Amino acid sequence: MDIPARTALAPDSLATSSDVVIRLDKARKEYPGGTVAVTDLDLEVHEHELLVLVGPSGCGKSTTLRMVNRLVELTSGRVFVKGQDIAQIDPVALRRRIGYVIQHVGLFPHRTVAQNIATVPSLLGWPAQRRQERTAQLLELVDLPPETYSHRYPHELSGGEQQRVGVARALAADPPVLLMDEPFGAVDPVGRRNLQQEFWRIQRTLGTTVILVTHDIDEAVRLGDRIAVLSQGGRLEQLADAVTLLARPAPGMVTEFVGSGRTVRLLAITEITREDLAAEVGPPERPDRSQRAPVQGPTLRLGSRLDDAVAALLDADEYGVPVLDWDGALVGHLTAAGVLGALRRVAAGAESPPTDADDVPTC
Ligand SMILES: Nc1ncnc2c1ncn2[C@@H]1O[C@H](COP(=O)(O)OP(=O)(O)OP(=O)(O)O)[C@@H](O)[C@H]1O
Ligand SMILES: [Mg+2]
Repeated sequence: MDIPARTALAPDSLATSSDVVIRLDKARKEYPGGTVAVTDLDLEVHEHELLVLVGPSGCGKSTTLRMVNRLVELTSGRVFVKGQDIAQIDPVALRRRIGYVIQHVGLFPHRTVAQNIATVPSLLGWPAQRRQERTAQLLELVDLPPETYSHRYPHELSGGEQQRVGVARALAADPPVLLMDEPFGAVDPVGRRNLQQEFWRIQRTLGTTVILVTHDIDEAVRLGDRIAVLSQGGRLEQLADAVTLLARPAPGMVTEFVGSGRTVRLLAITEITREDLAAEVGPPERPDRSQRAPVQGPTLRLGSRLDDAVAALLDADEYGVPVLDWDGALVGHLTAAGVLGALRRVAAGAESPPTDADDVPTC
């Protein structure tokens, strides 16, 4: 399964203020010695949302995350989780309600996979059978068959498998909120992509509200419903969905951070729709004019992404690549002009730029 393009997310699917699960209100952290790691940050995360914090090293991402579970205490400002000021909640009780995943997972080395996953349920006093059921269910969810993995120890797992167990452990007590700090950072690029896809599926299945920290802009645009770009001192430079961030990055720091590859990244998250297809579905003599006729050569589907489309176009004839719907019926052909049209469509649909618009990718 691939991660669907984030363009599929309707802006109004981000709920109203009544669905805010995490709210930072002028949250500030000054470390002894005078470093202001986070400067009066206002941020809201909605229920079921996957919000990504992205920015250069040292810009305050981890500090921001750790303010939410009180691993870092605020210097001033407030943080609310489900409407409750966390300053009023016992930090230990708070952390049991909030999953936390870090880069070097921190599994307990002398406890089995199953025991690791059951850590918080045990602390919460769940009966043994409920713990076992939940552990097995989570192992299935992260694609580690329980019969093979339950009794292994962390040193008997690959790095990627350890990360999955880390995610399963963080989800064990079904926390409404999950904080993830570079969760896939220690994994090679291919494994990382797989983990991202699996995690995305799990998050959508469980509906967990997530803040995920990364310094990888590709990971950010692949996973985030919205992406908060921070600059040094934990200053919020732009908060936007992936398409807006790529099509209309705020001038200055965000534009530099998103980088010259942003048009290519936009290709990777934009889906083909019917309106991008050529009206003419192929040459008159071709049998594929009949909707159900078998189509020769490479094809695309509605919902395929533009980076795959560009690759398929390289092998296509002058009529472009046949595009099928989910029932396998031919619905049209995609040409290079269609790809350009699709890019322009998503760029035009992106929210207005923070200042000027002369920076939209033109391909
Ligand atoms: N315990 C601490 N004491 C003093 N300064 C700290 C402490 N922890 C972090 N800092 C400083 O606060 C700033 C933000 O650090 P933070 O760890 O939040 O950055 P980050 O965005 O997570 O960086 P990275 O991408 O490298 O993980 C940095 O300048 C860092 O040196
Ligand atoms: Mg960090």
